[in-house]
Amino acid sequence: MTYVIALPCVDLMDKACVDECPIDCIYEGDRMLYVQPDECVDCGACEPVCPVEAIYFEDDLPAEFSVYTAVNAEFFTSIGAPGGAARVGHVPGDHAFVAALPPQLHDGALA
Ligand code: F3S
Ligand code: F3S
Repeated sequence: MTYVIALPCVDLMDKACVDECPIDCIYEGDRMLYVQPDECVDCGACEPVCPVEAIYFEDDLPAEFSVYTAVNAEFFTSIGAPGGAARVGHVPGDHAFVAALPPQLHDGALA
């Protein structure tokens, strides 16, 4: 199993989750962050710190976000399991589903 990052992260990217992850398995794309499902150890540390509740345990993912299990996993098709986000840094691009989303407005963001 794994934790999954969903739509509320898109165009916000708070990154509080990154500081909590003990194995550094949360990777940064252009518009959101993604959990590497083969590296995630289901510790749950990231979930409560996200200010917009973008992170869910795979089995608890709301139905409207169900596509994000595949979105997170498929983001790593080209880079695999690098073994740590810090040394990889920003990964250019996004999953095609995310790249096609319209701009997501958040409180305090540009209206
Ligand atoms: Fe995104 Fe929330 Fe992390 S907005 S970067 S999942 S803290
Ligand atoms: Fe996975 Fe989140 Fe822990 S991504 S390893 S549950 S901090």
